[in-house]
Amino acid sequence: MSPRIRFLMCAPDHYDVDYVINPWMEGNIHKSSPDRAVEQWQKLHFVLKEHATVDLVAPQKGIPDMVFTANAGLVLGQQVVLSRFLHKERQGEEPYFKQWFEENGYTVNELPKDLPFEGAGDALLDREGRWLWAGYGFRSELDSHPYLAKWLDIEVVSLRLIDERFYHLDTCFCPLANGYLLYYPAAFDSYSNRMIEMRVAPEKRIAIAEADAVNFACNAVNVEDIVVMNQASDALKARLRDAGFQVIETPLNEFLKAGGAAKCLTLRVTEPVREEVHANVSVESRIIRLEGHLLDSGLINRALDLIIDTGGSFQVLNFNLGEQRQSTSAAEVKVSAPSHEVMEGILSLLIDLGAVDLPQDERDAILEPVLQDGVAPDDFYVSTIYPTEVRIHGEWVRVDNQRMDGAIAITQTPKGQKAECKILRDLLVGEQVITDVLGIRTIRKTESRELRNSQEFSFMSSGVSSERRVEIVVEQVAWELRKIRDAGGKVVVTAGPVVIHTGGGEHLARLIREGYVQSLLAGNAIAVHDMEQSIMGTSLGMDMKRGVAVRGGHRHHLKIINTIRRYGSIAKAVEAGVVKNGIMYECVTNNVPFVLAGSIRDDGPLPDTQMDLIKAQEEYAQQLKGTDMILMLSSMLHSIGVGNMTPSGVKMVCVDINPAVVTKLSDRGSIESVGVVTDVGLFLSLLIQQLDKLTSPYHAVVG
Ligand code: ARG
Repeated sequence: MSPRIRFLMCAPDHYDVDYVINPWMEGNIHKSSPDRAVEQWQKLHFVLKEHATVDLVAPQKGIPDMVFTANAGLVLGQQVVLSRFLHKERQGEEPYFKQWFEENGYTVNELPKDLPFEGAGDALLDREGRWLWAGYGFRSELDSHPYLAKWLDIEVVSLRLIDERFYHLDTCFCPLANGYLLYYPAAFDSYSNRMIEMRVAPEKRIAIAEADAVNFACNAVNVEDIVVMNQASDALKARLRDAGFQVIETPLNEFLKAGGAAKCLTLRVTEPVREEVHANVSVESRIIRLEGHLLDSGLINRALDLIIDTGGSFQVLNFNLGEQRQSTSAAEVKVSAPSHEVMEGILSLLIDLGAVDLPQDERDAILEPVLQDGVAPDDFYVSTIYPTEVRIHGEWVRVDNQRMDGAIAITQTPKGQKAECKILRDLLVGEQVITDVLGIRTIRKTESRELRNSQEFSFMSSGVSSERRVEIVVEQVAWELRKIRDAGGKVVVTAGPVVIHTGGGEHLARLIREGYVQSLLAGNAIAVHDMEQSIMGTSLGMDMKRGVAVRGGHRHHLKIINTIRRYGSIAKAVEAGVVKNGIMYECVTNNVPFVLAGSIRDDGPLPDTQMDLIKAQEEYAQQLKGTDMILMLSSMLHSIGVGNMTPSGVKMVCVDINPAVVTKLSDRGSIESVGVVTDVGLFLSLLIQQLDKLTSPYHAVVG
């Protein structure tokens, strides 16, 4: 028995489940038995008294959760940080606990109003006193952690809770003597798990399964080598025994109905200070500003959700609501993150949404030199599809060649600083690269209600359309194609061999012939099957007219490859009159450039196929310059490749029978992309019909 160790408890005279503020309380209102609760509490009290001193605080009528003294505050030495309960149902406990602490000689530290922190329920000292583990996500606010560090002069490690059943840190996490840790990993996000694993050696981590976790096995009281808890499986008891602990089970199911057990019912009020330990907190905060149709476009929700989902926390400092339908709103949001690393992740996503640091906070972008050709500094900022500006020597410089997944390279030119998106392999020693997330902003078009709802752009709402919407989409794509052609614009098509197999070849050929396509980006296969159809009437050996397999047809495509190889190129085969129609024929005769990018599975390949992938990527990128619209026709590989090279603002229409492909491509978070889940042959035939309608004299008169 260690007389020095003291716990604070509160008798369950007024305990009951009176309201619901956690999932355990649901369906349990007034379902706990007062007699059994008293009996269970006394047993726990009795067990603890054998190993420590137990102080009592007087229970109060009308505040039933006061039994859970873990939530009174957090004690270290003579300092206590008083709890600020999130829920009003428990706020009435605060003055009683405050009084007890004051009467017992503690210095009471009180957090600012509206900054919830629920005491030792959410903050657990490493049992060696080396640091404080602090939880956030449900009850306590991340922004309370820097106060804990300051007042208690200790390092704080922030852990994010993600399972609402384990809403307090002490429901799923229990530091034990000798550096052991009993915990339920699934209750934490992956970053927090990494933090835990970095600090606690594998042999010291006792990770429990869900079955033990829901019995509140982590909600245990540890005094030296004894661990008191509601219940543990045999396996867990054995594991703890091997680690040198003795488990004492004492039933507490009446308290489980309120979401608490052994640890919640106690507060350790003797926690020795370790002199060599000092404050340290990695929580970072930044203030960002968002402007636009924040409500109409859902931008504010997206931004706030993203902060939470990425492990941060926020406080809306002010929100100026635009009053008229056309006026924009502006919000200032304080973003907090448990570390710089997480902050960078959050901010780079917020930058994508158009957020900027507040002007008074503006700092230049951080540059680091490229030390090896083709390799960026570790912390390089990864570019996105959105027009970007970076702040250099106090000036915002527009980034050229915007594309996603690149680095932003800065070079000094006679005319000043030049910023450019580059893929990693193109980086050169002597260039500087933007790192971190400071001094970077993206220019987002404000997505207004009007733009989203206007006739013309209604399909451009980043959505995947169902079969029923195919026709509407076709009408709008046809309209766009005509407008672009008439204006001398540029349409690029990416296409896979399915276009041929589904009978879309002749339609695509017509689009090319009639001037709707300015460039074709594809692979070896579509060219082979297109010419197979043109020369032999089959596609992958299938008779395209009759829809049956032709004997020996599976060899057709090899014959075609062989023939084209004999002529030296597709163009020469066309010239020689071997290829008389089809997609490739139309490209050659109408001077529409095409790039065929090779892959590991290519037969042949055709002489035109670019098997040097780096060159193929460069040629694709070259073709994509100045594009107004991209039609992606059933080729996941080439379409994704193209998507990565394309900045926002370019309309993208992705057609595929596989919804996953369509979702992946149209989900760029930009309003200009649309997905259509349908048969590509059908899509192309509808598109041709629609274009015919648009150009028929009858329509010309009307339109
Ligand atoms: N009903 C209480 C609440 O939801 C239970 C508190 C349990 N305490 C704890 N330290 N986990 O606040």
